[in-house]
Amino acid sequence: MSRNIVPHRHSISLEERSQLLHQRPVVVWFTGLSGSGKSTLADALEVELNKRGFATMLLDGDNIRMGLNSDLGFSEDDRKENIRRLAEVSRLFYDAGIIVISAFISPFAKDRATVRGKLPEGRFVEVYIDTPIEICEQRDPKGLYFKARNGEIKNFTGIDSPFEAPLMPELRIAGAEASVSEGLNQLLKVILPLIEKIDR
Ligand code: ADX
Repeated sequence: MSRNIVPHRHSISLEERSQLLHQRPVVVWFTGLSGSGKSTLADALEVELNKRGFATMLLDGDNIRMGLNSDLGFSEDDRKENIRRLAEVSRLFYDAGIIVISAFISPFAKDRATVRGKLPEGRFVEVYIDTPIEICEQRDPKGLYFKARNGEIKNFTGIDSPFEAPLMPELRIAGAEASVSEGLNQLLKVILPLIEKIDR
């Protein structure tokens, strides 16, 4: 696979890229069921960080599956490949000094561990949006639970495909109880100290 490949040593380091942007990059990884509120909170976080002058990139399941990962479905192998690619993309943006906000169901603990393993210690923040499936199903913003119950969609997470909840996420947000602004406050408390601006 990676035979005859010799990596090139770049002259500009991550430290220099970070200095230029006055921030320390981090990957904030949202995991949770479809309809749990990942995308809403990820978006709110990005808006707030941008207001505060941080450079961010938001990667979201539905959007990435329209482009880079349009060849992938929802079998276990495809989900694994989905997350493997996203781990690489997240790492690339991280290396550029950008604060990465990723929102994917990422149902398998092993795949989330792969992403964590791509990043230096303390630079991967796993955020579990813990919303009971009954609530996600009630919300059903895209009508997908309805279709899954009818058998129109197979391998739907929480219905006929598993979701392995994180055991020790850096942050757990109770998606059914916390408002968006409460969730956002929880996020900022954890993330701001990690990305604090670097003066030149
Ligand atoms: S993941 O499991 O591979 O991490 P990802 O976050 O990229 O999933 O995509 C999930 C989105 O795809 C859901 O929000 C939903 O809109 C849509 N989707 C379509 N089919 C399924 C399915 N079988 N299971 C889960 N989500 C699905």
